[in-house]
Amino acid sequence: MTAGAKLLVWGASGHALVLADLVALLDGQIKLLVDTNPDVTSPLPGVPIVHSLDAVDQWLATASPGQRPDGFAVAIGGSHGLVRLGIHQQLVARGLDPAILIHPTAHVSASATIGSGTHVLAMAFVGAMATVGSECILNTAAIVDHECQVADGVHLGPGSTLAGCVTVASAAFVGAGATVLPRRKIGQSAIVGAGAVVTNDVAADTTVVGVPARPTA
Ligand SMILES: CC(C)(COP(=O)(O)OP(=O)(O)OC[C@H]1O[C@@H](n2cnc3c(N)ncnc32)[C@H](O)[C@@H]1OP(=O)(O)O)[C@@H](O)C(=O)NCCC(=O)NCCS
Repeated sequence: MTAGAKLLVWGASGHALVLADLVALLDGQIKLLVDTNPDVTSPLPGVPIVHSLDAVDQWLATASPGQRPDGFAVAIGGSHGLVRLGIHQQLVARGLDPAILIHPTAHVSASATIGSGTHVLAMAFVGAMATVGSECILNTAAIVDHECQVADGVHLGPGSTLAGCVTVASAAFVGAGATVLPRRKIGQSAIVGAGAVVTNDVAADTTVVGVPARPTA
């Protein structure tokens, strides 16, 4: 994200609060919040909230140049990678730029690549030759070690570790504090429970928990 960017943030709960801190730190501004739950009110003083894509369109059509967002961030955590990717497409189609948000305390190797709309939070680490896709969340202190391949819409929870050369398919979710051993593969939309140690590959759409990680019934 460039300093001075004006963002629409989709989602108005926990992850939005984290992003609000980060956007302020990076000298950006949140101009509009969106949450499809009509009961949710804006948690950010002075920042308006709308509750539908139609309302976003209306806002974009009528906002003054100073109020109109030029970029966006999708602030939906958990295992909702496919939802994040869907919203990403809809906002790109409206001419908004997906912000890459990287906390100043994170380390991203010069040889790593980070996709559009991805958030790298405080103290996260992305090692040499790692590739991270679009609309991922590398949460607080997550580690993506050398040569990992992380596809679009993946969420790595706080303090989780991908050892070297791990592959994570799209929309997978790795819970807080989980560890994935080197060269293992995590399938599409799989979930790794908090604290798990993944010693074998995890199939698509499968939840594993425990040490060593085993599929749930
Ligand atoms: C694995 C997980 C997705 C399962 O969620 P769920 O389907 O709602 O599961 P439940 O809470 O109903 O628990 C089902 C069973 O699995 C066990 N279980 C749940 N999570 C577990 C975990 N991480 N490790 C070991 N066992 C776990 C529960 O104790 C329960 O066992 P029981 O049936 O013997 O009582 C969830 O517990 C988890 O670990 N989520 C990660 C959360 C996280 O890290 N968030 C980061 C936010 S930024």
